Amino acid sequence: MKSNRIIISFLGAGLAGLTGWAEVTIPITTPNTALVLKAADNGRVYQQYLGKRLANDDEYAKTRCGAEAYITHGMEDYFEPALHINHADGNQSTLLKYAGHNSETQADGSTLTTVRLSDEVYGDNVNLFYVTYPDVDIVKSWTEITNGEKKPVEMEKYASSMLHFNAPAYYLTQFNGDWADEVNATELPLSFGKKVIDTKLGARPNMFVSPFFQLSLGEPAGEDSGDVLVGTLGWTGNFRFTFEVDNDGRLRVISGINPYGSQRVMAKGETFTTPEFIFTLSDKGRGQASRQFHDWARKYQVHKGDESRMTLLNNWEATYFDFDEDKLIGLIGEAKELGVDMFLLDDGWFGNKYPRHSDTQGLGDWEETANKLPNGIGALTEAARKQGVKFGLWIEPEMVNPKSELYEQHKDWVITLPNRDEYYYRHQLVLDLSNPKVQDYVFGVVDGLMTKYPDIAFFKWDCNSPITNIYSNYEKEQSHLYVDYVRGLYNVLDRVKAKYPDLPIMMCSGGGGRSDYEGLRYFTEFWCSDNTDPVERLFIQWGYSQIFPSKVQCAHVTTWNKSASVKFRTDVAMMGKLGFDLKLDDLTPDEIRYCQNAIKEYNRLKPVILEGDQYRLVSPYSGNHTSTMYVGKDGRQAVVFAFDIFPRFKENLADVKLKGLDPKVVYTVREINRGDGSSRDAGSYTGDYLMKVGLPVFTLGKLTSRIYELNAL
Ligand code: DGJ
Repeated sequence: MKSNRIIISFLGAGLAGLTGWAEVTIPITTPNTALVLKAADNGRVYQQYLGKRLANDDEYAKTRCGAEAYITHGMEDYFEPALHINHADGNQSTLLKYAGHNSETQADGSTLTTVRLSDEVYGDNVNLFYVTYPDVDIVKSWTEITNGEKKPVEMEKYASSMLHFNAPAYYLTQFNGDWADEVNATELPLSFGKKVIDTKLGARPNMFVSPFFQLSLGEPAGEDSGDVLVGTLGWTGNFRFTFEVDNDGRLRVISGINPYGSQRVMAKGETFTTPEFIFTLSDKGRGQASRQFHDWARKYQVHKGDESRMTLLNNWEATYFDFDEDKLIGLIGEAKELGVDMFLLDDGWFGNKYPRHSDTQGLGDWEETANKLPNGIGALTEAARKQGVKFGLWIEPEMVNPKSELYEQHKDWVITLPNRDEYYYRHQLVLDLSNPKVQDYVFGVVDGLMTKYPDIAFFKWDCNSPITNIYSNYEKEQSHLYVDYVRGLYNVLDRVKAKYPDLPIMMCSGGGGRSDYEGLRYFTEFWCSDNTDPVERLFIQWGYSQIFPSKVQCAHVTTWNKSASVKFRTDVAMMGKLGFDLKLDDLTPDEIRYCQNAIKEYNRLKPVILEGDQYRLVSPYSGNHTSTMYVGKDGRQAVVFAFDIFPRFKENLADVKLKGLDPKVVYTVREINRGDGSSRDAGSYTGDYLMKVGLPVFTLGKLTSRIYELNAL
């Protein structure tokens, strides 16, 4: 990456004079957003401005300069710092001064700005990095901290980012829940004091709360109105966002690794790099912020973000652990009959001394169970090849059941307390990924399977246990384990990606326990929730869509909530990365025909649903109906999904105004995927009409749904 960078500007150190420092302005801009830092005449770097980009760059200097950009512990500030270092001599104060900055255009067209700071007394160096993407209005920032002292230091806090705001009021939306109840949007006003969103669950970090938030400035933002900052941390581990309003009503937002139990000892000369905090500012509400994230994700961040995704049939809810070769070969045939791209074999295919007949044993022993699969995975990949479908496989390589050969052979590889009773979550323990030998083993699970069965075309990588009862046999500093676990995971994933660059992998963690943008640099998609009730999914997909595009959200049609028709269930799943998790016996012949047709239609409409602009039209939180639409990037095609959940008797049904269309273009509107598989002409309208008047997409039918396809004439 480095060699591709073109240096476009440089301002070096040595600006300090005998009586003061030259003032330096550091603009970090996208077309619509500006973060302007200023190195003041005292040598300290302040956040001069954060907001909508001004037409005239000279006017940033007129704004009231804000707080120090990266506040350190032990100096004059009264509130939460970004950085806290305990120096070798016991002193806890750090004072950072400007030491230079530079901006470089990178190979992908983004601009990297580096701001160098240092503590003149202790010699520690801090680099603040900002990457701006010119076409998607996203800013990415992280920090590098180097121990410039002669002895080790200990870091108590080491944030990725600190941002300051001065608005009349602040409203925070967090996305919290539980297993099978992920990403519920909850909004609350912020007042004096701290609000912290964090997790200390380690390997399954997001079980209770997702690593992203929306911060409305002034008043709660709507879908299309209001100032809102949307931020997320790219870290598949413990994170913390701190929102602190001070005595003057100013807000600071500190984002980074959760320092809980994670004091970091740094040897002389050692550098620590924080994860990336990614944010966008929208002055047109949450919808625009989401679309900016979706565009950035597909173009710059997600593994194979610019490629399409495979539809699949998964056997988890169809069989759970109860299957054998014949049953699976039957299901592979059903995948073909349905018309999906792939069959995905889930949990339960491995273990011989301790066969994996339930979640109580076998995890860690990655050989096929002989009496279930006498001819191994090879017989299944062969059956899939014959049917012309791809074959995918479930693994959970970071975990171990105590009832396993792996545990018996390598107890020292397990995160568990040496001097206390073991505690099990789902009857399992987490392997110690800080240990390079464990990293080799985990890489070897994938590598071994791929070497033996090169026809495996996909993995579902699960991770069901949080880290509890934390202790490592490998670490010298126990407080490093939470962080080194994640780094170990990334080491493994780097190796997997390097050796198998074309292998798509689903990130899964007991449902949506992992859902972050650093993980998605390695994984092509994630499993949103074990809750596949379509009504619940309407809320879950609404929540994740705030920052994730539809192509990374795995959405499966299952038998949950049979009071919803197969059409309703399929329509919900078609708003994400479509899959099925049932057996054809669960469906009537008409329902099978419906699904076959829906898959064909989904494949045809993938360029709009997976690559287009998403507009959330009616929120499921607002009442009895919800609607979302996708508009192709050229504005010539669109798909509108409309759902009636539990309408009231004689409820007034307003037309729903569409968005993102070209007002001058005339669109034909067809209702497609109707219950009997037919489609229906719903008229022709200009984009102007559709956006100002709308369409009557809702009905009074309980649990009913419709899909409309729009095409420019
Ligand atoms: C949890 C996942 O979320 C499920 O989809 C399934 O793969 C099970 N684990 C298997 O144990």
